[in-house]
Amino acid sequence: MDHSNYVIDELISAKSIAARVEGLAKEIALHFSNTDKLIVIGMLRGSFVFIADLVRELDLPVEVDFLEVSSYGDGMESSREVRILKDLRGEIGGRDVLIVEDIVDTGHTLAHVVDYLNTRGPARLETCALLDKPSRREVKVRATWTGFEIPDEFVVGYGIDYAQRNRNLAYIGAVKFIQD
Ligand code: IMP
Ligand code: MG
Repeated sequence: MDHSNYVIDELISAKSIAARVEGLAKEIALHFSNTDKLIVIGMLRGSFVFIADLVRELDLPVEVDFLEVSSYGDGMESSREVRILKDLRGEIGGRDVLIVEDIVDTGHTLAHVVDYLNTRGPARLETCALLDKPSRREVKVRATWTGFEIPDEFVVGYGIDYAQRNRNLAYIGAVKFIQD
């Protein structure tokens, strides 16, 4: 099949995303209301738009750090092998930590990152994923907070890419391939 010819069907509007991000931030702020300083860790690159919106809605003292892991290459299939490409800059021992992920799909990435960061002894470690595709799960893992559950569709936009494109869409859309 030719994977270069596709259209994007809007799945979640920019307005719905904004409303949900506000709701997530309220829940997260309540959970961490007694923290000195929350370390919010964005998983590069897919979460960069989400984390930017989320931290601006968070009424808490926060620090921001980033972690980059590889799992997808440029295609649509997870390699299921998770490698750390860029590690955190700061220490998280004894600290309150929130991992921010774009999508939980098979679950390999989030499970691996949670295990990895737990070896550094955070006081509390929670996770927030904008999207969840529960029907695709291979590893038993669930984010503490999820923005939207979506069906088994390949999605783009709001930071999320297909072959490094479409990250700059304000909405989230499903990729539909056109056969000719
Ligand atoms: P998992 O390890 O299979 O859970 O994969 C999680 C990662 O795969 C996410 O952080 C995304 O970067 C990527 N991913 C999963 N589904 C999609 C999708 O529909 N579009 C783009 N990237 C995706
Ligand atoms: Mg990702």
